Amino acid sequence: MTPNTISLASRVSRVKPSFTLEMATKAAEMRSEGIDVVNFSVGEPDFNTPQHIIDAGKKAMDDGFTKYTAGPGMIELRQAICEKLKRENGLDYTPSDILVSNGEKQSLYNVCQALFDKGDEVLVFSPYWVSFPEFVRLADAEPIIVKTLADQQFEADFDDIEKKISSTTKGVIVNSPSNPTGGVWSNDSIIRLLQLAKKHDWTVISDECYERLVFDGEFTSTEKLNRDHKIGARVITCLSLSKTYAMTGWRIGYAAGDSTIIKAMSKIQGQATSCANSIGQKAGIAALTGDQQPVEDMRIQFKERRDLMVELLNDIEGVTCAVPGGAFYTFPNFDHYLGKKANGKVLKDSFDLSEYILNSEAVVTVPGDGFGAPGHVRFSCATDKDTIVRGIKKVADALNKLD
Ligand SMILES: Cc1ncc(COP(=O)(O)O)c(C=O)c1O
Repeated sequence: MTPNTISLASRVSRVKPSFTLEMATKAAEMRSEGIDVVNFSVGEPDFNTPQHIIDAGKKAMDDGFTKYTAGPGMIELRQAICEKLKRENGLDYTPSDILVSNGEKQSLYNVCQALFDKGDEVLVFSPYWVSFPEFVRLADAEPIIVKTLADQQFEADFDDIEKKISSTTKGVIVNSPSNPTGGVWSNDSIIRLLQLAKKHDWTVISDECYERLVFDGEFTSTEKLNRDHKIGARVITCLSLSKTYAMTGWRIGYAAGDSTIIKAMSKIQGQATSCANSIGQKAGIAALTGDQQPVEDMRIQFKERRDLMVELLNDIEGVTCAVPGGAFYTFPNFDHYLGKKANGKVLKDSFDLSEYILNSEAVVTVPGDGFGAPGHVRFSCATDKDTIVRGIKKVADALNKLD
């Protein structure tokens, strides 16, 4: 019998697959074939979750804390989040302003579902984290890509924003420190964006998942600037335990903001996944209320690795790498090598270049074209220093072989 043709919903073809996950899969496949792969594509800390957090997760299971929780998250966790927001960010919130999700990714998805509709436009800064335009598209709205300034930590190009504003602009997504660039915006830029948002009545979605990984100077939350400068813009802050506490697999993130929006997000989440996992939530309380030294230890190591990687990349002829102020990525420019030939084949873009480096020296990187940044390649610092030295040498060797 011939099977019926499967007709998928149109949104499946509208949405792009996560190509950063594809690179990680490729690296795993090569390793399983016994190839010595250097993986610079990793989007999560290479450290294990601190022991006291793991112990809290184990205890939650032993205590039978293995059931559904309240949809927006356990009240104890939402209280711990409010205390964290007060202590670290100087922000007053109550638990009804907080939604705990299965990772921040779900909070970001929820907020787009709750706020945007067909016909709406949402500003997204390029280079962008791959999921931002897709969250907007999944809400049937249109992502409008805005340029940034590569020599100024990839902060907003306000001339370009002015060109992209329309009567249907409804929101803007900002991510500082940024994935993929590691750029940290100046407070002045954030304030300018908030002022525009207030003037045009946009919601600002501020993804601050790398807030604790800032290397040069202090981090100030977008909402704190909004309140201190009495701007009065509408801000939804999305945060994660994933990067701060090396807890990517526990899937705990959250959003903080106006309780009407949080309630709408919670309604959508309630029908999608009920609640975040109970064991992760208990572990999250231990993370937020316990010893913060492991966070600082990780930050120091990431800073040392960043410095090493930037230096080694800049030592390669024709490569320029700005010093990223945060997160754990470097985002060098390889324009010099585009148009060169590998075994007679012209490398026309960063996809070709990353693929060539992979096939030639088994080094996995992430092409900048996928983040809307032609000529750039993303390198993750979530690997030890010896591997960084070995891997960047291999990249230099690969580039040396080009005609
Ligand atoms: C910019 C950015 N936002 C959000 C996330 C998602 O974090 P979570 O693990 O909490 O879903 C990531 C993960 O890579 C990220 O890079």
